[in-house]
Amino acid sequence: MIDVASFKDYRPNSNEMLSEALKGLLATPKTLPCKYFYDEKGSDLFQQICQLPEYYPTRTETLLLQSIAGEVAELIGPACQMIEYGSGSSEKMHIILEALIKPESFTAVDISKEHLLSVTKALSNEFPKLKVHAVSADFVYPFSVPEMIGHGLRVGFFPGSTIGNFTRDGAIDFLRGTREVVGPSGAMLIGLDLKKDERILHAAYNDSQGVTAAFNMNLLTRLNSELGATFNLNEFCHEAFYNSEIGRVEMHLKSLSEQTVQLGPKTISFKKNETIHTENSYKYGIDEFIELAKCAGYKTLKSWSDKDNLFGIYFLQGIS
Ligand code: AVI
Repeated sequence: MIDVASFKDYRPNSNEMLSEALKGLLATPKTLPCKYFYDEKGSDLFQQICQLPEYYPTRTETLLLQSIAGEVAELIGPACQMIEYGSGSSEKMHIILEALIKPESFTAVDISKEHLLSVTKALSNEFPKLKVHAVSADFVYPFSVPEMIGHGLRVGFFPGSTIGNFTRDGAIDFLRGTREVVGPSGAMLIGLDLKKDERILHAAYNDSQGVTAAFNMNLLTRLNSELGATFNLNEFCHEAFYNSEIGRVEMHLKSLSEQTVQLGPKTISFKKNETIHTENSYKYGIDEFIELAKCAGYKTLKSWSDKDNLFGIYFLQGIS
């Protein structure tokens, strides 16, 4: 059974995009919000990134989930209500659903309506006893989930290290917000990329096929096609590096010359080598994240990592 709870389209419209892009590009240093990576082309490029030999997070998390799914199911117990943040294709959720003991409901929360419809339909066919809800929302902002009647634990699932795209304070705020959704003694299952040798991080964000570069550059293509901006794509290049002081990979778009670009009513000037900061991807130590979760009101009941300590999965429960 599927319940399509809300199908409002939460994708930002072009007016919002223009004002957010102008705000970022007229600031010093220049920035653009990473949410604009994910138009159809960008989402497709991200799927390609997930398959790259250098981009270890996706396959490492998937293998880890497969190996711990039974343990996770024991911790969660029967008749649970699962909520996936940014559900996408729900492939990782599928691994957990297969292991869970008589799960009661699954709520998929995603910004993309198309994904939600096809994925929730397929899951509902495969798990006919599961109540499946689809909520179209940008999970960064408060949203309401359908009333769930049941006696099992409510568990939010947030895989893929997407929490690493928030600042540390943003991650705490996000986790605090999840407590409203899962309830005071509810739980979160979170996938998180760990701190590691810089060379591994550098390769993951500077792949040899240039897919990550294309993903980053697609932001400028989007501003040109959707907002009529005049970025010359030959005059910018992808740059990604690990900032060890802050503990994050930063992605930038670097201007190769002194130049000006028109965007809406404004002319934006670039110095040679000046960058637009497009994404942060924070990496955590195992204990560092346990402390962060504590600040948001969660205790870590269990954490797992793969044998090379590349990626971590955390099971958090609200401190009531
Ligand atoms: C979605 N997010 C967790 C990815 C990351 O690794 O920060 C996005 C990405 N950016 C470049 N490659 C992948």
